[in-house]
Amino acid sequence: MGSTKADIAVSYDVSNEFFRLWLDERMNYTCGIFDEGPERMKLGVPGPVSLEESQLRKLRILSDYAHVTSASTVLDIGCGWGADLEYQATTNHVKAAHGITLSEAQCAEIRRRALPNVTASVCSYLDYRPEVKFDAIISICMMEHIVSPQEARDGKSIAAYRNYFRLAHEWTKPGAYFGLQTILRNFVPRDRKDIQDLGWVTYEIFPGGIVPRLEEIIAAVNPYFEVLELKTRRLDYRNTTWHWRDRLRKNEAHIRATWGDKVFDDYERYLSTCVTGFEKHYTSLAQYSLKRID
Ligand SMILES: C[S@@+](CC[C@H](N)C(=O)[O-])C[C@H]1O[C@@H](n2cnc3c(N)ncnc32)[C@H](O)[C@@H]1O
Repeated sequence: MGSTKADIAVSYDVSNEFFRLWLDERMNYTCGIFDEGPERMKLGVPGPVSLEESQLRKLRILSDYAHVTSASTVLDIGCGWGADLEYQATTNHVKAAHGITLSEAQCAEIRRRALPNVTASVCSYLDYRPEVKFDAIISICMMEHIVSPQEARDGKSIAAYRNYFRLAHEWTKPGAYFGLQTILRNFVPRDRKDIQDLGWVTYEIFPGGIVPRLEEIIAAVNPYFEVLELKTRRLDYRNTTWHWRDRLRKNEAHIRATWGDKVFDDYERYLSTCVTGFEKHYTSLAQYSLKRID
């Protein structure tokens, strides 16, 4: 069943104020899109596009992939602290947007924002039964929580992802589009420290979940959705995690004083592992435009 509610509390309920210190102003906790070209992105230090702008670019791309208009009703599966819901309400002026998350702290933050036409609930996608069907779905880096490492070893990944797409199909109207983003697991490092760090992030920072493989997602969408567009964005996530670590480090003294040394040290190690993982191709990022098969 992937990450439980208790697992999700480990990953997202450290404190909203803690995450606010090092994420962008809307609190996107997923890859932004810098699109600065491979040469610029290889330099190691990010270029002129800010973290804030990169996150807006990401939300614009996924909205376009989901064909969202002001007439749309939109479901956000795994909505975090509401960055996309805020974008749908204030930029796309949608008819209605609903978000589901397993984190109480995230849902409290969304309600605090009091966004027009936005609702949110603490609910697993496994239990979600909407009363009305949606025009569009957006889901940004939530599929990493669907399958546990043990379930992946037992060969259960594709069936679990297919069930997720089956539900998404059930919750939408005919002709609906789906803007999806997922991290990708590419290959296991040969370097011992890199293996240990990646394993530590999997079990300690995001317990209960494992990042999917591209071929698993491609196998699982059938027979529910057609892949219209697919783009990988490995270096964009490298840059995003670089920015997060940079902001975390700039707040080191405050974080150590408020949440303790372990929180700072763990998040420094986790974000450094991400930067290395994307640089060395252990992990990547994919964005997909999916269309319902009717
Ligand atoms: C990495 S965060 C991404 C948040 C947000 N989409 C963003 O871009 O900032 C993953 C999200 O998936 C949610 N999630 C994990 N498992 C879930 C489940 N079974 N049902 C619903 N949401 C879930 C978490 O609560 C969290 O909000």
